[in-house]
Amino acid sequence: MNTEMIEPFDLKIGYLTPKNPIALAPMAGITNSNFAKQFTDHAGLVVLGGYNLDDSTNDAAKRIAQRGRSEFVTDSPMEFLTSELETITDKADDCAVLVNVRAADIDAYVEAARIAKKYGAGIEINAHCRQPEIMELGAGQSLLEHPDTLCEIIEAVKGTGVVVSVKIRANVVDDLMTAYMIEKAGAHIIHIDAVGRHGADVNVIRKIRNITSLFIIGNNSIVDYSAAKSMFSRGADMVSAARAVLKEPNTLRFLVDQITSYQMTTGWYNSPKHICGGGDLRALAFCCLPVKPCAVHNALSQIGMSAEEFTKLKLQLVEGTPLEYGDSTCFGSMAWCCKITKPCFLRDGVLEVVGLSDIDFMRLKKQMSEEILAHRRR
Ligand SMILES: Cc1cc2nc3c(=O)[nH]c(=O)nc-3n(C[C@H](O)[C@H](O)[C@H](O)COP(=O)(O)O)c2cc1C
Ligand code: SF4
Ligand code: SF4
Repeated sequence: MNTEMIEPFDLKIGYLTPKNPIALAPMAGITNSNFAKQFTDHAGLVVLGGYNLDDSTNDAAKRIAQRGRSEFVTDSPMEFLTSELETITDKADDCAVLVNVRAADIDAYVEAARIAKKYGAGIEINAHCRQPEIMELGAGQSLLEHPDTLCEIIEAVKGTGVVVSVKIRANVVDDLMTAYMIEKAGAHIIHIDAVGRHGADVNVIRKIRNITSLFIIGNNSIVDYSAAKSMFSRGADMVSAARAVLKEPNTLRFLVDQITSYQMTTGWYNSPKHICGGGDLRALAFCCLPVKPCAVHNALSQIGMSAEEFTKLKLQLVEGTPLEYGDSTCFGSMAWCCKITKPCFLRDGVLEVVGLSDIDFMRLKKQMSEEILAHRRR
């Protein structure tokens, strides 16, 4: 593989432009502005909080703290939020900022959203916290069970022009319906704690990727590059880590270095695994000519396309591009060729002859995947 220099990550979420896809996840009582500052020179995003936005959530947090869990408790929530944002944005080093928040009523979310926007930060609605004191107030994870309220909050905060994220805990309710409603209500980001029975359930990321265009932050057990790759290759646009940074504060730095190197050598940092390897629907760009019984047929039925239509579309998409070539490859054209990280001397020989770099091959495949999915019938 060559190591041609390419543009760094080109991430844009409303007015947020994270410099890379690695984030600090929120931990109540820990991830305040001073804690987060140690990551802003290298991480793409820091999520501060969870902050309690009103008297009820602060009282609840006080009770939670009394039984030993760390919490941010304050008598003046909006002043505290303002001073936290002032501190973090004072020297944010191009690092994007979200504030993770809990409240008992919509007005507090809206007020916090206005403050966050003023400082160029986004807001993250906490639909994740399962502490009973918070859930009793209708906040945290209880919002997953009350999707109409969650959507009302999203719509209200969106009205301020702020970038909106929703942090969810997976496998509590119907994740696909939740993601669909969050997108429909206008959020920009879904931050998924993909908690499963035995560590991270990465298939949740794939399933949500397959039905939304939301910016996905994958979270849970991101302790090393292999865990991060496993979420990126199932459709996460970014990954975040919480507990790992407490154990090893350099975790985010390692992840940034490794994903940057992968981006510079392949040009598609979150390229999917092949469909038969558990990848998401973007991987149709790497699929073979659909002539044998395999997982491609199920993937095609998910996008409402027949094998004949798929064949015609892919051939049409490569017409006039270097992917059109490849007589010596398995199916006569690189339209059907595998991901660049799969070693193949047949494809690499053609790439050499047509003068296409690995990065440009992957860029064309990325473009192809977007065009295939643009033809999906929902
Ligand atoms: C001490 C602690 C406090 C947390 N507080 C919050 C919070 O306030 N808001 C939130 O959305 N998630 C909170 N989380 C969840 C984390 O953001 C993350 O989703 C979870 O720990 C799984 O990711 P990890 O495996 O990287 O730790 C907290 C986690 C821990 C360990
Ligand atoms: S078409 Fe090829 S790459 Fe796609 S699922 Fe089938 S065997 Fe895997
Ligand atoms: S030629 Fe190589 S890259 Fe292309 S489809 Fe065959 S095995 Fe995959």
